[in-house]
Amino acid sequence: MSEKETKVNRRDFVVTASYAVGAVGVAGVVWPLVDQMNPDASVKALASTEVDISSVEPGKSITVLWRGKPVFIKRRTQEEIDKARSVDINELKHPEKDEDRAANPEWLVMLGICTHLGCVPLNDKGDYDGWFCPCHGSHYDTSGRIRKGPAPTNMEVPKYEFINSKTIKIG
Ligand code: FES
Repeated sequence: MSEKETKVNRRDFVVTASYAVGAVGVAGVVWPLVDQMNPDASVKALASTEVDISSVEPGKSITVLWRGKPVFIKRRTQEEIDKARSVDINELKHPEKDEDRAANPEWLVMLGICTHLGCVPLNDKGDYDGWFCPCHGSHYDTSGRIRKGPAPTNMEVPKYEFINSKTIKIG
């Protein structure tokens, strides 16, 4: 083999090798995208989540993550329920009956996201003893309904159900 032929062959090898690396690189990028499109077990699990509420004391709340969003689960006291249910809904910016937001009055389940610009409100705060969003001052009542401040709507109640007296399935 002449020196010229050797150089050409080396160059062919280098070109071929870089194509091969390129192909592997592309396959590496595409596969995770394709894989993400398959609704595997972990994605299905995220579609709904079961929460054990047996340790939540009256007046306390827990926050769980569902589909990457915080969900507040509040076990309300009788006083908090009475406050929520005695409101004249005609006074509300977003009129919703507490009965329609919390079928089981002891438990309020809602997305813990302020409907103004998406901050996470603080529990047991604000002028209506419910939640307060410190970002721009939205006050929510004990039903999670907007009462004062810039938020346009009540905190959203997701689809959920009681599997039994100790477990809520969200989603
Ligand atoms: S994000 Fe809550 S008041 Fe603005």
